[in-house]
Amino acid sequence: MPREVKSRIAILISGRGSNMLALADAVREGSVPQMEIAIVISDQPNAAGLAHAQSQNLPTAVVERRGRSRDEHDRELVTVLQEHQVDFVCLAGYMRLLSSHFLSAYRNRILNIHPSLLPAFPGLDAQRQALEHGAKFTGCTVHFVDQTLDGGPIIAQRIVPVRDDDTEETLSARILDEEHTLYAEALAIVNGGAYEIVGRRVVLK
Ligand code: GAR
Repeated sequence: MPREVKSRIAILISGRGSNMLALADAVREGSVPQMEIAIVISDQPNAAGLAHAQSQNLPTAVVERRGRSRDEHDRELVTVLQEHQVDFVCLAGYMRLLSSHFLSAYRNRILNIHPSLLPAFPGLDAQRQALEHGAKFTGCTVHFVDQTLDGGPIIAQRIVPVRDDDTEETLSARILDEEHTLYAEALAIVNGGAYEIVGRRVVLK
């Protein structure tokens, strides 16, 4: 019998970590087949998500960014990822652009989730941007990470209608519910390998 080889994921967080927990649940329940979580890494020592990960017995590490250049910080991150034999990196509320060293070490193997229908409303406070713009629909996107801000090839998206009485909080909560299932779906697509990146398009086979 061939040994079952699982892809190893690292999840990078900076805060609450609800997407990280949703991914961990999906991996545990088998809806993201053939994957395991190698490590959860935070750049913020006080990130609430770290304690949540530990309570689920997930391995964690802190790679602090404070006082260091992007390149120095990312070089340490890549070393930690390589030590843990990571195949895919999932950014989950990880609020930092990546250096070219990091991007080339994990080319087309870094995913990010963003709370809008990209390319609309990249950057911070995407839900507030959608409300202030008067958008009738927004949503969430999982995409490959490149050197641009929230700009890499799109793997999967989900639409969320904006209600007339929405506040930033109510809209964010409905988008977050969708994020929690979308990320696992996108990761399963990528790990399954049945896709091709053609220019900017991720084409499913
Ligand atoms: C999520 O809504 C995620 O889409 C967003 O931060 C939140 C993190 O929540 N990410 C971005 O805005 C990236 N540009 P979480 O820590 O509970 O997963």
